[in-house]
Amino acid sequence: MPALAALEAAAWPVSLQAGEDVIRRRLKLGHLMLVAAVPDRLAAALCCIPTSELPFDDTRFPRDFGAFSSLPASNPVRSVYVYSLCVHPEYRGENIVRNLIYDGIARASAFGAEWAIGDGRCPSYAGAEDDGPDKVRADPIFKAAIDSWSATGRKPPLDSLIRDPTLRFYHRVVGCDFLRVCPNFLPQDTSSGGHRVIFIKNISSAA
Ligand SMILES: CC(C)(COP(=O)(O)OP(=O)(O)OC[C@H]1O[C@@H](n2cnc3c(N)ncnc32)[C@H](O)[C@@H]1OP(=O)(O)O)[C@@H](O)C(=O)NCCC(=O)NCCS
Repeated sequence: MPALAALEAAAWPVSLQAGEDVIRRRLKLGHLMLVAAVPDRLAAALCCIPTSELPFDDTRFPRDFGAFSSLPASNPVRSVYVYSLCVHPEYRGENIVRNLIYDGIARASAFGAEWAIGDGRCPSYAGAEDDGPDKVRADPIFKAAIDSWSATGRKPPLDSLIRDPTLRFYHRVVGCDFLRVCPNFLPQDTSSGGHRVIFIKNISSAA
């Protein structure tokens, strides 16, 4: 738990870090944490919830990150809700994160999960130049696409969404689709303007 909290502290802006108490609470709820370890520390982690929930009903989907990341694990497993993925800044740009994601998908599929769901950050909405280890420029065209999606409910073209480096990363590595935008999901994520873009991937044949 201390090693995971140390990884959180290195990888996330201060307002988005989980401390040991939060991590302990999440484990008690039955959450799964896959980690990649190097001899003296953790290099990456993926935290998720095996759940009988499905993400398609807007009215049932958690309203904010607090609710999303504190769902208890439940059976039968139909989805995994992934609420945290991070790589220590010194280990970015290697294959660690891909291996973690592919291993996570294979394990979730073996549990019987049909869907992997995640809450994607979108730091180019407002930019993250002074925000901890991330350096991402604000992108007014991307911001306009997210604002229009929030206001009208109509999903913008994929090209405008994958202007953002994090959403592009998920689209490329996970091969996911984007399901909905959630305004005020995590107001502390100022670079994303508080938004999260929920992504989804059918993993039923990945075991
Ligand atoms: C997102 C993250 C896990 C990617 O890990 P990584 O080892 O850097 O991944 P890769 O080297 O395989 O891929 C890097 C790609 O991700 C992009 N990227 C994604 N999120 C980024 C961010 N917050 N800052 C900078 N680049 C980011 C890079 O631009 C690059 O894309 P490109 O090749 O099109 O330029 C890592 O940057 C990280 O831990 N960020 C902080 C935590 C976070 O934002 N997690 C996502 C939660 S939704």
